[in-house]
Amino acid sequence: MWRLVTSLTALVSSSKSSILNQPASTLKIWKSLTTETPILARHGISTHDCTPFITFVLGGPGSGKGTQCAKIVETFGFKHLSAGDLLRREIACNSKYGSTILNTIKEGRIVPSEVTVKLIQREMESSDNHKFLIDGFPRSEENRIAFERIMGAEPNIVLFFDCPEEEMVKRVLSRNQGRVDDNLDTMKKRLKVFEAWNLPVINYYAEKGKLHKISALGTEDEIFEQVRPLFAACEQINSKTLLFLEGQ
Ligand code: C5P
Ligand code: MG
Repeated sequence: MWRLVTSLTALVSSSKSSILNQPASTLKIWKSLTTETPILARHGISTHDCTPFITFVLGGPGSGKGTQCAKIVETFGFKHLSAGDLLRREIACNSKYGSTILNTIKEGRIVPSEVTVKLIQREMESSDNHKFLIDGFPRSEENRIAFERIMGAEPNIVLFFDCPEEEMVKRVLSRNQGRVDDNLDTMKKRLKVFEAWNLPVINYYAEKGKLHKISALGTEDEIFEQVRPLFAACEQINSKTLLFLEGQ
């Protein structure tokens, strides 16, 4: 698995002048990278020796998480893990948790964290990529705490797609993906669950300075123009970090 390579404390003090030139959004990401997160490894180390770069992608049902994740994958080469898709896959392959997961999804409730985190863990550990978008997770404080405990990791950044309820209902009811939970009855329950369980997680990351709120209204491309600079800034920081380490 991945290992922690070094802390960035030394790097922060010695590269102050260069980061002072960065825009505010870059500095915010820089802070979240430097205060809590180990950095990407040097060139030449295999991907599994790298510390992962983890992005949590949050937002209500129909807020456009999956659509924007596809664009991030295409532009920045992340591995996309949708917690909902991983759970639906367990249903489709009749795993031992399949029927419990199906009933939970039909009710719009949250699947026990152990189950979801293990699915995410399996995907992360078997991936050659080290940059992950974890979409639809954590859905609750329990999800968040289980991830930290089992994976021993925290997200580097957290995206929150902020969308008005009426718009989310409209999108979900018109998307026709054959999902058992895309109906008005379940949608009402999902919105209640979102407010009760997911908003506290969003507030938690806002307080930690890791949250990037994106307005989820507009065209896919307009929304992506709010997302792109965040990841472009991360790439810039990572390449500066690598250059710094190589100079040591
Ligand atoms: O994110 P998505 O809309 O695909 O999630 C569909 C359903 O999967 C949720 O309403 C919930 O029942 C379940 N889920 C979960 N825990 C997660 C993500 C999704 O229980 N972290
Ligand atoms: Mg989705």
